[in-house]
Amino acid sequence: MKILLTGAAGQLGTALQRLLTIHDVTAFPRTQLDIADLAAVRAAVQACRPDVVINAAAYNAVDAAESDPQAAYRGNALGPRNVAVATAQLQIPLVHVSSDYVFDGDSPRPYHEYDRPNPQSVYGASKLAGEEAVRSLNRRHYIVRTAWLYSVEGRNFPNTMLALAKERTEVRVVNDQVGSPTYVPHLAHALTTLLETGAYGTYHCAGQGGTSWYELTCSLYRLLGLHTAVVPVSTAEFPRPAQRPGYSVLTTIQEPQILLPPWEEGIGEFARVLL
Ligand SMILES: NC(=O)c1ccc[n+]([C@@H]2O[C@H](COP(=O)([O-])OP(=O)(O)OC[C@H]3O[C@@H](n4cnc5c(N)ncnc54)[C@H](OP(=O)(O)O)[C@@H]3O)[C@@H](O)[C@H]2O)c1
Repeated sequence: MKILLTGAAGQLGTALQRLLTIHDVTAFPRTQLDIADLAAVRAAVQACRPDVVINAAAYNAVDAAESDPQAAYRGNALGPRNVAVATAQLQIPLVHVSSDYVFDGDSPRPYHEYDRPNPQSVYGASKLAGEEAVRSLNRRHYIVRTAWLYSVEGRNFPNTMLALAKERTEVRVVNDQVGSPTYVPHLAHALTTLLETGAYGTYHCAGQGGTSWYELTCSLYRLLGLHTAVVPVSTAEFPRPAQRPGYSVLTTIQEPQILLPPWEEGIGEFARVLL
């Protein structure tokens, strides 16, 4: 299969390149293809003529987005719109990745694909705008919402906690935000399964189950035998520019059901790679 990949230098882009070696992948990091540039996106798609495009590019600076919405919408709404326009024109399916932050976090139960989004941050609103553009402009879409991504090489929460464990005897971690930590290689594998199905639609693909940042840190330190103390704190004690959903656990009721391993397996594999 011929695949065009955008955002190739990011966490997901890197994992996909590693996984898709049996396919013919043309991978564009941001330096080679800015998805906010429609002419460039059109030219890349037309030159490559892929069987499918995977858009792994995104503006992910959740807090910075509050003061720079233009940058967030450029990467997360205009960019996906351009990729959708360019692919639809040539009837090429598009895999587009979205976020649990499209939800408000007030649900008493895990969010499924048919729950109503209600983003509470600029980042979440820009990701929802990107979804809506893809959904309306290319009917051959797989929109995949995921959450709390981490991999060994990326900029992410577990890597930050590992760096802090080297410097401190104690870390304070938020215990009242609950989500679905997702190990990027697990997500990459799910995407490769999904793109072969031809079952276009919206999917939730995240580590099964839910946990807090605090519990995730405790698990990580335990798995790695680190003795740094982990102190639970509230979101109110850690004010940030962007509001995060208090509860954004994702589940799936979509068919075909694409299930990722439970989040505990993800953090276990992450730790094994480091040991
Ligand atoms: N990370 C998470 O916790 C999380 C949670 C839920 C959903 N997601 C979604 O999952 C997907 C993959 O995330 P990730 O963690 O792999 O993100 P990542 O590591 O931040 O990678 C995103 C890549 O996209 C590039 N990019 C940004 N703007 C671009 C543009 N206009 N044109 C082309 N490339 C651009 C970035 O380049 P620069 O680094 O040079 O800006 C970066 O290499 C994204 O859609 C993201 O929104 C992520």
